[in-house]
This record gives sequence, structure tokens and C-alpha cells, in this order.
Amino acid sequence: EMIRYWGYPIETHDVITADGYILNLFRIPHGRASGANSSCYRPAILLVHGLGVSSPEWLMNPPESSPAYIFADTGFDVFLMNHRGSTYSKRHMTLMPWDNKYWQFTVDELAKYDAPAVIDKVLALTGQHATYWVGNSQGTLTGFMALADTPAYNSKVKALIQVGPVGSSYYSKGIFEFLIHGVYKYLKPIADFYRVAFGAHEISQGIPLLFRPLIKLCLIIPLGREVCESVVHLSFGPVAPTFNTSRVGVYLSHAPSGTSTWNILHLAQNGLHRRVEHMDHNPLENLQRYGQETPTPYNYSNIVAPVYLFWGPNDWGTTQDDVEKYLLKELRNEVGSFEVPGYNHLDFMLATDNADKVWNPIVEIVRNLE
Ligand SMILES: *[C@@H]1O[C@H](CO)[C@@H](O)[C@H](O)[C@H]1NC(C)=O
Ligand SMILES: *[C@@H]1O[C@H](CO)[C@@H](O)[C@H](O)[C@H]1NC(C)=O
Ligand SMILES: *[C@@H]1O[C@H](CO)[C@@H](O)[C@H](O)[C@H]1NC(C)=O
Repeated sequence: EMIRYWGYPIETHDVITADGYILNLFRIPHGRASGANSSCYRPAILLVHGLGVSSPEWLMNPPESSPAYIFADTGFDVFLMNHRGSTYSKRHMTLMPWDNKYWQFTVDELAKYDAPAVIDKVLALTGQHATYWVGNSQGTLTGFMALADTPAYNSKVKALIQVGPVGSSYYSKGIFEFLIHGVYKYLKPIADFYRVAFGAHEISQGIPLLFRPLIKLCLIIPLGREVCESVVHLSFGPVAPTFNTSRVGVYLSHAPSGTSTWNILHLAQNGLHRRVEHMDHNPLENLQRYGQETPTPYNYSNIVAPVYLFWGPNDWGTTQDDVEKYLLKELRNEVGSFEVPGYNHLDFMLATDNADKVWNPIVEIVRNLE
């Protein structure tokens, strides 16, 4: 509805993963001005959303400051994936979303099953031999993990373009730092007991119901606005002055989107262990999955597709330290590293000057690669 509202064409496609999940893949095959000239070559570009959101994160603003529309209008064939468990991808061949088994996944499965299935679908639909991968936050992590663990896909990805790139999360600041180093570290035995005794669950499906009245409180009670802004600041860093406060209602009608409790535990595990590794299930299951009792790391030396990182010095979720002390050390091939001054974790998507600071430079990079 949003994509049609702004006058863009939209297709939806089902993608079935090797483990039976049915993902919804949206496609904006061309921009507003360019018309449906099918003889015109448009490079495929796959946009991979972050944690707790889904594909609408790429089109939250009017077309001038929404990456999905910017890419469509500059000549791309735009694909928006939706990871398993998020708002638009809640189907499975045999499992139902109220089934505990449905939620037994982490970024491991997003990288091992969702990423290859979606890439292959994009290539089948376009007839192209490779696509650009543009990730945001968790979508950067799954891109790295997929190419590290399934190296054959390096030849199907023309470049990993990573916006708000996730390293190990060890260097997160504020609320995420507290959750990893102040909570998860001490409650890990309880988390392990939960996993073994109760399995996996969806988180954040019910949160919007709770969330919206809370946000309303922000606007009504004295000091409410200051308190809410502090929560955003402590989670994602100080927002840029070009953040459009009057649009917060639109943003919150699409977030949070669902994921699994196990996924959160896996991300916290990476942060605590200061490296990107597979999920620590239990010694017996680890032995079956990884051939040893402890979880194995992802080998980022296997990533040979070109990598471009766009990161913000004000970002408290995926920090400058995480880029400089982790990612740039792990990645073997040459990496383009671009600082986006004044941006926090949300500004890449939401700040109204993001076209100049992030998306047009990416269009330029791709033009040069093409
Ligand atoms: C369609 O694109 C091709 C290749 O770019 C061009 O030669 C042709 O003139 C275009 N047709 C129309 C109707 O714009
Ligand atoms: C800010 O948000 C308002 C409300 O959605 C919208 O009308 C306006 O166009 C936005 N401004 C910019 C610069 O995007
Ligand atoms: C990681 O991958 C690189 C390149 O493919 C390889 O040379 C190296 O032995 C691997 N490291 C481990 C620990 O498997």
C-alpha cells in the first residue's frame, strides 16, 4: 500500500527455504519515471532489514529520503527481503507460527537458509548472475555470515554494502552494552535453562500493543518526552538534527517486528564472546552440528566479495569500535570504510538528509563497479 501510494510498481514473490519457511520477497522493478521498459538493464539490489524491523524500514520516509525509492529511481531492480518470523514472513510448509518449533532459529538459520534462497530467487527473476546485497544492522551480519559459511555465494553477490554494520556487538554502548555485559553475562544459566526446558518463542508480537500506549504517555505526561528521547539515545545514540520527529507515528506503526528469543540470545552470545560464532546450543548438539562441544566461529576470511561499510560515529548500537577493532581486522579483502558524520543507528534510514550522506554515495559506488 505504501509503495503504491507513492506511485511505484510492486510485485510480491514467495521464496521457500530448504528448511520449509516461506518468505515474502517484495520487488520494485523500476522507478516512477523510468517506466516499464523491459529492454533496459537494471542491476538487481537486495535490501536486507535489521533486527526488530522488516522490509518497510527501507521506505519509511517520502521518496527523497527512502533508500528503496532512491534505488528504484536511479535505475535498480529493487528487492526487499523479509526474514523468517518478521511481519511479512510468518509462513512455513508444515509448521504454524504458534508452534514452538517454528521459532527455533537464530541468525545462523537466517544466513544458512534465508539468504541463499532469496539470492537464488532474485537471480532467477532477473536472469542476472549476481546481485548487490545492501544490509542494515542485523542484515549486515547475515550477509557476512552467509558468505563466510557458504563461500559459493561470494560469486552471486557483486558487493556487500553494509550500513550500520554489526561486528561482534562487544563494543555496543548504552542499553545494549548493559544487556550484554550487565544482564546476559549473569543470567546465562537461566537463559540456558529456558532454552532446554521451554524451547523458543516469538518476541515482540505483543509489544506493539503495549508499545503504542507507552509512546502516547511520552507525549502526555510531564517530562515524558525527555524520558523517551533518553531511551532512544541510550539505545541507538544521539539522533541527527535532521530526524523528522513529526513522523515517529509512521515509524512506530511498523516496528517492532517479530523475531525469536533464541536469536536475541545468539546475538548476546556474540557480544559476550567478542566474536561472531555459531549458536551455543548444548555440548551434545554442538558436537552434532559443529563437530566439537563448543560453538565454532564464522571464518570471515572466506568473504571475497567486495565489502563497503557505512558507519556513524554517534551510533551506539553498531559502534565505530566494532568496525575498527573487529570488522576491519576480521575481513581479509580490501574494505571501503565510510564514516557518516553525525549519524546514529537509526539515522541511515530515517534522517531526512540520508540521500546525500548515504544512499547517493552508494549509487555512485555501484555505478563505478558496473
Ligand atoms: C528502452 O530502453 C532501450 C535500452 O536502454 C532503449 O534503446 C529504448 O529506446 C527504450 N525504449 C523506450 C520506449 O523508452
Ligand atoms: C516529516 O514528516 C511529516 C509527517 O509525516 C511529513 O509530512 C514531512 O514530509 C516529513 N518531512 C520530510 C522533510 O521528509
Ligand atoms: C579461514 O578461511 C581461510 C581462507 O578461506 C583459510 O585459509 C583458513 O585456514 C580458515 N581458517 C580456519 C580457522 O578454518
